[in-house]
Amino acid sequence: MRDRYGSLTVVEQTLLAKDSYQLVLEGETVAHMTQPGQFLHVRVGQSEDLLLRRPISIADVDLNKQQVTMIYRAGGEGTSRLSHYENGKTLNVMGPLGKGFPVEEAQTGDVALLVGGGIGVPPLYYLAKQLVKKGVHVISVLGFASKQDVFYEEAFKALGDVYVTTVDGSHGVHGFVTNAIDEFELKCDVLYSCGPTPMLKVVTERYRHKKAFISLEERMGCGIGACFACVCAVEDGDAHEYRKICSDGPVFPVGEVVL
Ligand SMILES: Cc1cc2nc3c(=O)[nH]c(=O)nc-3n(C[C@H](O)[C@H](O)[C@H](O)COP(=O)(O)OP(=O)(O)OC[C@H]3O[C@@H](n4cnc5c(N)ncnc54)[C@H](O)[C@@H]3O)c2cc1C
Ligand code: FES
Repeated sequence: MRDRYGSLTVVEQTLLAKDSYQLVLEGETVAHMTQPGQFLHVRVGQSEDLLLRRPISIADVDLNKQQVTMIYRAGGEGTSRLSHYENGKTLNVMGPLGKGFPVEEAQTGDVALLVGGGIGVPPLYYLAKQLVKKGVHVISVLGFASKQDVFYEEAFKALGDVYVTTVDGSHGVHGFVTNAIDEFELKCDVLYSCGPTPMLKVVTERYRHKKAFISLEERMGCGIGACFACVCAVEDGDAHEYRKICSDGPVFPVGEVVL
């Protein structure tokens, strides 16, 4: 575990869309960041009000350059402060943590449907790259609130078919990710999804009997299975059965945990 604590240096901080930033960090621990869907637990500053780390997904990795990319929405206090970090500044980062997306569940020649919503889109990019590398056809459905929130549309297009949806209809398909799936009758051999809980609930109901995996972005404390801040109940389990999102997840087979 000690090799999962490290200081990473900021080499790029870019505003991608409304309140959404791309942060590129460099350092030795990047060598461990090989599985898509894992996350980094980031300490933002030293002040007491920010003692809790913020979990942010790995969006992309360049192992040669020892660089990892995260995409985050500056919403609360921690992420807003993070958006002011400039090149050369170091960040205390734990990770990679958790169990990510099972790339091995998609075979060469399969069609993988990637369904992301808002800040759930970033981990799907590293996943898409790895799937394409093994000869899987990737279809991405990316849902955002509005045109000004859309990011990485072109990056995903370079890897396969892309359908963007916006709730207000200002860009792409009007409505939710499910509107695009229905309108274009999208089919798949395996589905991977990450996004807000209401979206994951709909995905679970539709793909309950298919090969499908969802990533949960719930509140976290320690990030390493010690504090029980992130437990969730198991579907059809007894009252005492639970999973920790940080260490058993954040990725689960669809239908395994109660949303
Ligand atoms: C596995 C995982 C991966 C994630 N990946 C991303 C990502 O790639 N990009 C991104 O923008 N966001 C991601 N999130 C959500 C992100 O962690 C929260 O938006 C962020 O922690 C909120 O911090 P804040 O400083 O903006 O808010 P504050 O309100 O200052 O946070 C207060 C406390 O609540 C916690 N918290 C608040 N909202 C959430 C939330 N929705 N989920 C988890 N903790 C929360 C914070 O960790 C902090 O401890 C991820 C969450 C998880 C669990
Ligand atoms: S965040 Fe502490 S056990 Fe999961």
